[in-house]
Amino acid sequence: MPPAADFIGDLLPKIAAALDAASQPQPGCPARLGEAMRYSLLAPGKRLRPALVLMAAEACGGAIEAAMPAAVAVEMVHAYSLIHDDLPAMDDDDLRRGRPTCHVQFGEATAILAGDALLARAFEGMVEGFTARELPAERIVEAVRCLSRAAGPTALVGGQADDLATSGEETAPPNQLDHLESIHRRKTGALFAASLDLGAIAVAANAAQRAALGYYAESMGLAFQIVDDLLDHQGSADEVGKRTGKDLERGKLTFPGLLGVEPSRQRATQLIDEAIHSAALFGAAGERLIDLAQFVLQRSR
Ligand code: IPE
Ligand code: IPE
Ligand code: MG
Ligand code: MG
Ligand code: MG
Repeated sequence: MPPAADFIGDLLPKIAAALDAASQPQPGCPARLGEAMRYSLLAPGKRLRPALVLMAAEACGGAIEAAMPAAVAVEMVHAYSLIHDDLPAMDDDDLRRGRPTCHVQFGEATAILAGDALLARAFEGMVEGFTARELPAERIVEAVRCLSRAAGPTALVGGQADDLATSGEETAPPNQLDHLESIHRRKTGALFAASLDLGAIAVAANAAQRAALGYYAESMGLAFQIVDDLLDHQGSADEVGKRTGKDLERGKLTFPGLLGVEPSRQRATQLIDEAIHSAALFGAAGERLIDLAQFVLQRSR
């Protein structure tokens, strides 16, 4: 992995330690299942979602540590979504984060169960962590509602379902661009938005702060998936850490497929400009959010 950028470098060891602690073997959890969970959770991802939880807490004037239970939970939900996204019945991928995918390493049944387990454990761990930090019960409930909605049928899972439904479709739906944006906002944008909102919930942010984070997330989350489409279209597996050229092969609806490379890049650039504008409300406390938005545009993995 390249050395961590300044905007996130000090957060990564804290996130790594928290993920490690949260995924220690538990009595009752079969060893192989626990191993598969840790294999996928601790693999070298960019950790952008947990970082955003912590950055949102910081931007709103709170302590980073106060938001850590939610940071761990969003990365668990993300890791589960990647395991299932890679399954033969979905994108059928064999490489993730530069390593064999969970089902290649552990078999399909264990991979499915490791995903299920990470999803459930995300919520259990978040409630336990916030309870230990004495977050008021109504805010714990709000955090659970926020993350469960983002992971659910109107957001991540719904976006995944429509992503698969449009794969290889011969007759394109009308308003294709609107449909594609709606898929991207749900399958990817929603978990980014929840990450920022969870950071705000953990530190009791005010309505103006939450609104600004919401606008930031709307733009940044869509830009992130446009860039993901571009990397699949143009990147190499060595650099990206996952197979490339797969979206075209599987007939996926993507930004470069629909608009072409340059217009897609322009749209992502415009969205990132909007995200940066939204983060301006936070002044110096929001600097990391601005740097992360810029990274999303420049990233090569
Ligand atoms: C990949 O997300 C899946 C998408 C939503 C496009 P990331 O690019 O954040 O993956 P990791 O966590 O760094 O592996
Ligand atoms: C995946 O989108 C989104 C989720 C996992 C929810 P992609 O299928 O484009 O992600 P990659 O490219 O496999 O990481
Ligand atoms: Mg997919
Ligand atoms: Mg995929
Ligand atoms: Mg992709």
